[in-house]
Amino acid sequence: MNATLATELSAELAALDAAGTRKRLRPLGSPQGPLVRMAGHGDVLVLSSNDYLGLAAHPEVVEAGIEGLRRYGAGTASVRFICGLFDCHLELEQALAGWVGTEAALTFTSAWAANEAAIGALCAGRETWVLSDELNHASIVDAIRRARPAGKRVYAHADMAALEAALREVPAGVRRVVVSDGVFSMEGDLVPLPRLVELCRAHDAVLVLDDSHGTGVLGERGRGTPEQFGLLGEVDVIVSTLGKALGGAAGGFVAGSRELCAVLEQRARPQLFSNALPPTVACSALAALRVLEREPQRVARLRTNAAALRDGLAARGLRPLPGDSGIVPVIVGETATAVAVSERLLARGLFVTGFGHPVVPEGTARVRLQASAALSAAQVQQAIEAVTSEVQR
Ligand SMILES: Cc1ncc(COP(=O)(O)O)c(C=O)c1O
Repeated sequence: MNATLATELSAELAALDAAGTRKRLRPLGSPQGPLVRMAGHGDVLVLSSNDYLGLAAHPEVVEAGIEGLRRYGAGTASVRFICGLFDCHLELEQALAGWVGTEAALTFTSAWAANEAAIGALCAGRETWVLSDELNHASIVDAIRRARPAGKRVYAHADMAALEAALREVPAGVRRVVVSDGVFSMEGDLVPLPRLVELCRAHDAVLVLDDSHGTGVLGERGRGTPEQFGLLGEVDVIVSTLGKALGGAAGGFVAGSRELCAVLEQRARPQLFSNALPPTVACSALAALRVLEREPQRVARLRTNAAALRDGLAARGLRPLPGDSGIVPVIVGETATAVAVSERLLARGLFVTGFGHPVVPEGTARVRLQASAALSAAQVQQAIEAVTSEVQR
């Protein structure tokens, strides 16, 4: 190891330790679920996972992955256009497209890669301007940077008047692409989708919606933010993850028109230069989707738990950020405070992550609770009591 680099890295870690902002990774000894076995802490109650529907360890999801491994082996051992793809990829893509109301879908090894693929391909070969919400996920921010569009505007969070003004700035004849999260991951609020769709139509802009925290969570059947607003089939491009509600393994997808997916297959760099989704993951995600189709009551249960969390915290004097999603953030101020609250909660057997700078602006550090359909009413109550007492301490 280069000695200078070793010294620099040690200093960086020491600074994080001194500031109390170093993230601690927690090894788990049991599957994701309402309770997990955590090294050094025993069984802890989880309110920080994206396993919104409790499907990560569902027997059908696990068995489908095992069966996929037996049937297809570990993977394609190359990118799709060089070595082919498996039936399970096509089956999953067709099911996902049907689910979110588009003609087609294309899978990737992560939603991070899917955002890079969609935004990169839309900016290639034509003069393009991208307009992006200031609180969009990091994968969108980085994808736009890498895509190097001819023009870029970052508009104030969920501010449709600001977006409209930015759209008016785009020169004539230029492709315009508007990108937004459906559910904003640090705030838990929803994009005002009806107005967003209206503006995109009026200004001939392509709408890309990252629905990673909306898929499986919003709408009567969990079809996401568009279903929540009665706009299924009205969004040009949907990007989402398989690593949250849909089984929680990993992977992402882009859903849109047949032509869009065909062009991404030809042009998107994460598709051309990176392996296909492992078949175990594809089979598990498909099984998760089938369970969700069969059991929409999981979505209702998630909604009930999220509302109980928000209402319970508010009734005890905290001010959780409002919203209809499964994300319930409570602002605590400084990054070190969020880390300390999260540590104290863990000592009481509750796993809730604290987020601070640079993930959120300094002074707005928070503990972020996430509801799951798998939590019992008693577990939700336990979380409310513990969070209230540690935040108010
Ligand atoms: C809004 C959003 N987009 C994309 C991603 C990336 O998802 P993945 O883990 O599939 O890369 C996340 C994950 O945190 C997210 O919250």
